[in-house]
Amino acid sequence: MATMLNGHAQSPAAQRRIEHHEADVVIVGAGVLGCALAVTLGRQGRSVILLEKSLEEPNRIVGELLQPGGVQALEQLGLRDCLEGIDGIDVKGYWVSYFGEPVLLEYPKSTPTSPTPLGRAFHHGRFVMKLREAALACPNVTVVETKVTGLVTSSHTQEVLGVECVTKELKDCYFAQLTVAADGYNSEFRKQHHQYSPKRRSKFYGLELIDAKLPEPNTGHVLLSENPPVLMYQIGTHETRILIDIPDNLPLASVKNGGVKGYLRNTILPQIPEGARQSFSDALEQGQLRSMPNSFLPASVNKTPGLMILGDALNMRHPLTGGGMTVALSDVVYIRELLSPENVPSFSDTGLVLEQLAIFHWRRKNSSSVINILAQALYALFAADDESLRALQRGCFRYFQIGPVNGPVGLLAGLIKQPLVLVSHFFSVAFLAIWMVLSDLPLTRIFLFPYYAFMILYTACIVIVPYIWSEVWC
Ligand SMILES: Cc1cc2nc3c(=O)[nH]c(=O)nc-3n(C[C@H](O)[C@H](O)[C@H](O)COP(=O)(O)OP(=O)(O)OC[C@H]3O[C@@H](n4cnc5c(N)ncnc54)[C@H](O)[C@@H]3O)c2cc1C
Ligand SMILES: *[C@@H]1O[C@H](CO)[C@@H](O)[C@H](O)[C@H]1NC(C)=O
Repeated sequence: MATMLNGHAQSPAAQRRIEHHEADVVIVGAGVLGCALAVTLGRQGRSVILLEKSLEEPNRIVGELLQPGGVQALEQLGLRDCLEGIDGIDVKGYWVSYFGEPVLLEYPKSTPTSPTPLGRAFHHGRFVMKLREAALACPNVTVVETKVTGLVTSSHTQEVLGVECVTKELKDCYFAQLTVAADGYNSEFRKQHHQYSPKRRSKFYGLELIDAKLPEPNTGHVLLSENPPVLMYQIGTHETRILIDIPDNLPLASVKNGGVKGYLRNTILPQIPEGARQSFSDALEQGQLRSMPNSFLPASVNKTPGLMILGDALNMRHPLTGGGMTVALSDVVYIRELLSPENVPSFSDTGLVLEQLAIFHWRRKNSSSVINILAQALYALFAADDESLRALQRGCFRYFQIGPVNGPVGLLAGLIKQPLVLVSHFFSVAFLAIWMVLSDLPLTRIFLFPYYAFMILYTACIVIVPYIWSEVWC
């Protein structure tokens, strides 16, 4: 017998969920996306079953800084209060340091007199527990702790009818008109139904620092140097997260050089702002180092009747810009509209659901492409490993110092949803980088300028064009 956590057994729909394991929607995964979607569909009067393999508080190094765009999406979904009571920290922008030289980038105000939009940083698990509480409090949602092991598919129509699962070592099944795969980055269920598979170039290694003092409170810190980027942000009154990017096969982190720990001790530690250095070294010695792959996965159109793939299972980008939860929550806002009972009276009309999902694929791009392309392009610059990329990195930092920063930061915050704005800033950075090379070239070597200019522009295109292609046109 399954562990039923909310026993709103009064309504016939609830009885069908609990006794017959049958609902309008079955959602696999009670993470950020699954919970927000369950509450949203439940409030629209749908009967929802939410399946999660472990209802204990997640303890992960992901999803700890929510951009203002994500806070807005939570507000639109009526879930803003999930950010309260979790010892969260307001975030007013970014503090970027480039070889020790800092610049402060605040999130842009919508008008000069309006308050600075705020993001929020927190312990991932506490936020997810709040979202799960919201789902549990919803009378139209039944939450079940069970590990989903496969999709149940009709052998002649290929339609997904529900899922198979294992609850406390017993095999079980749940059926619905619509099954949602929201099982995260390592999704089991996207494999046969998603056009692409994730690509990984690096991992983030995470530590939790205690009572670290950061140079600029209430901001996300980005440390840039000749090494790949390092992120730091406070996630609770006493705790600060640090994430260190380590590309696959980084020579400085090879076994010969003392592995990842050696790299953190020898290369990263000296670069940590002074007020955080001791806590970094303590955390490192206590050895609670954890890692997560940083993946890129473009979204693809859902084409399987009866199935919808969402969240990290659908679409991922490098977590450098902390955009994943913002994309996931914005997607729930789009789905709420496109699959509303007015637009789709019954999910049993799988043809209509698929049509709406095709619209969803294109409509979400306004917000998701910007976040995805920006994350991938900035990562390429920040982890620069050749001369042209380093020139672009330098140009980018200079742009932060002198350029119209509201644009770039607004894009990063998930507040500006126009891919063209991103492209124009990106090429402004490229031209600034070229200008900086020109102004640094000694006259005797000026004949090399066309070559450098070409290489920088060419590299800029190599960095961004494939992502524009996969994000905007596919
Ligand atoms: C290192 C790193 C740092 C990040 N930092 C940020 C950040 O600062 N800000 C930000 O916005 N985003 C960040 N992200 C991205 C963010 O974590 C994700 O975009 C977000 O968590 C996606 O939500 P989701 O609901 O799709 O997946 P998840 O939150 O991963 O939820 C998936 C859920 O499915 C459950 N599940 C999986 N398999 C099964 C199964 N078989 N049966 C039942 N349940 C199952 C899991 O237990 C989990 O609860 C980061 C990512 C990484 C890798
Ligand atoms: C639950 O669903 C019913 C219809 O099935 C709807 O009338 C009701 O408003 C929903 N309840 C909540 C709290 O959202």
